Amino acid sequence: MNAPIGVIDSGVGGLTVAKAIMELLPNETIYYIGDTARCPYGPRTKQEVRNFTWQMAKVLEKKNVKMLVIACNTATAVALESLQKHMPFPVLGVINAGARAAIKKTKRNEVVVLATEGTVKSGAYEQAVKSLATKATIIPLACPTFVPLVESGEYEGQFSYDLVAKGLKPLEDERFDTVILGCTHYPILQKQIEAAVGPHVHVLSSAEETAKDVEAILSYKGQLRTDVEPPKHILYASGSVPIFRSIAERWLENDELDIRKITFEK
Ligand code: DGL
Repeated sequence: MNAPIGVIDSGVGGLTVAKAIMELLPNETIYYIGDTARCPYGPRTKQEVRNFTWQMAKVLEKKNVKMLVIACNTATAVALESLQKHMPFPVLGVINAGARAAIKKTKRNEVVVLATEGTVKSGAYEQAVKSLATKATIIPLACPTFVPLVESGEYEGQFSYDLVAKGLKPLEDERFDTVILGCTHYPILQKQIEAAVGPHVHVLSSAEETAKDVEAILSYKGQLRTDVEPPKHILYASGSVPIFRSIAERWLENDELDIRKITFEK
């Protein structure tokens, strides 16, 4: 089936998931929406995040996507169930995938989840880990300074290492061997996070596991793209297109991206 896969996030973070999908399934077309004008979602109310997520899903429904990936933990925590119930195609979140990745790696059963305030408050990772029937203890930490750093596009250089180290200071006395990047923006700060937690800790994102889920669903449904023409991805941003472009080009290592402006009604 040659329809695109929809991928949504509050901003550029979902590109970390989109990239993993592009790498695993290079023949698939992706329509991406980053709601950069209203980012960050982390500090917003559940209702706001749910409404914004629904707005993006509706846009992609009209564009006839064959499945939707909520490449945002904050949105997954509050909107996954309702979208799964009402959308006419499969809807996938990133939290179960992230929990699975961590459980596969941890030996000590002590796992740190770095996430937004919204995701931490939702307890979604604790639930996901429990549903995998493991004994792992979750140590959640909200990192509200990380998303604005990534969205600014200025996330390289010493300043970013200092800011990340400061954000992770509350972990100083904790014992853990695995960190889940429970916000899709954070893989863009992977080097900085690894430097702060040290070389003996696994730092994992949900991106690869999510991409495997996408493949499993599409192949099960017989809906993998068969067209021989290369896919034409389209990326939409509700905020500044130049800033989105500069981050997307670097992250996806592609300077010929089709990036368009999208506007949401209030
Ligand atoms: N990238 C998003 C997440 O995974 C949200 C970041 C934000 O908007 O606060 O949670």
